[in-house]
Amino acid sequence: MKNIYFDNAATSWPKPPEMIDAMNRYNETIGGNPGRSGHHLSVEAARIIFETRELTAQLFNIDDPFQLIFTRNATEALNQVIFGMMKNDHHVITSGMEHNSVMRPLRYLEQNGLKVTVVPCFQDGSIDPREIEKSICSHTKMIIMTHASNVTGTIMPVKEVGHIAASHDIPFCVDAAQSAGSIPIDVEDMNISLLAFTGHKSLYGPQGTGGLYIKKGLENDLVPRMMGGTGSRSEFETQPDFMPDRFESGTPNAIGLAGLGASARFILNQGIDGIRSTELTLTTMFLDKARDIPGLRLYGPRKADLCTPVVSFTIDGISSSGVSQILDEKFSILSRPGLHCAPSAHRSINTLPGGTVRFSFGHFNTTDEISYATDAVTKIASGTIKGDAV
Ligand code: ALA
Repeated sequence: MKNIYFDNAATSWPKPPEMIDAMNRYNETIGGNPGRSGHHLSVEAARIIFETRELTAQLFNIDDPFQLIFTRNATEALNQVIFGMMKNDHHVITSGMEHNSVMRPLRYLEQNGLKVTVVPCFQDGSIDPREIEKSICSHTKMIIMTHASNVTGTIMPVKEVGHIAASHDIPFCVDAAQSAGSIPIDVEDMNISLLAFTGHKSLYGPQGTGGLYIKKGLENDLVPRMMGGTGSRSEFETQPDFMPDRFESGTPNAIGLAGLGASARFILNQGIDGIRSTELTLTTMFLDKARDIPGLRLYGPRKADLCTPVVSFTIDGISSSGVSQILDEKFSILSRPGLHCAPSAHRSINTLPGGTVRFSFGHFNTTDEISYATDAVTKIASGTIKGDAV
């Protein structure tokens, strides 16, 4: 049976053929170490990475591509921000819908004195930006928030919070792991000072790619998490202070970045609005059918335009992992159950400890797949189909 892949929030699949071609081409014909050796294959590798930097910057309306550094993933970018900027006597504000890539570094630093305010969210995952403003105090050194929940897809009021942060002159860091490529992001219009993103989800790039935008000037307040060879200023034993080398030590994932560049071009060619429109159709269709299935409970916004193409649900009487297992074994539908590395978000939507089943749709899913999946969950909810172990 053909796989129905509904796990795009974990990693998107399939990938655009352009991405695979670019990676094959890199491996077969380029392969040099970018910016290191000066021969033409090394120069070509560096050129490809620069092109990826430009294309990715274009996606987020970043004026100077050198303000965008590449990382392995969004987690690494967020760790760079949190460990690179936060001091023991600082105060940071975040939301009740964060992933552990924000919560774990914050909870770690909290043990050394960092004050962390988690602003509660409503049960659909939404937040009142006024509550964020009320939490600001003289020690507040950062507001850090997800753009969209990986559990419910809830889109957070990033523009409103960006305005609040700017009016108080506080850096605003956005975790765009679930939004980059799926909904428009404009770092200028949204007053985003730091934007962490991953390449392998809604940018349709390869795993092991991601990045961080750092607003011009803010790099001086950010201690690099890693230092070493950059291929530049090799005569000095101290880390270069210019962008992007200040934060990019060691041989990069050039083949991955070649793929990410092709994926960024794919997104620019499709247009984020075009991608969003397909994903809205799929999510609306699922929500419309799912809300009438007896025994199925939906979490998060019930309107597709308030979320990314992510839906969370439970089925009465069966654990989330049990449902996902039946979906996989009996219907070849691939989903992610449990807590999705985001216990804070599940606390907000009242789904601890069992979590939810998550369907996350992507550009390559079809309305036929949605119909098939709603039939499948109807059969599971009615008890017509049971799992082997259930
Ligand atoms: N953070 C990823 C997810 O939500 C892996 O599944």
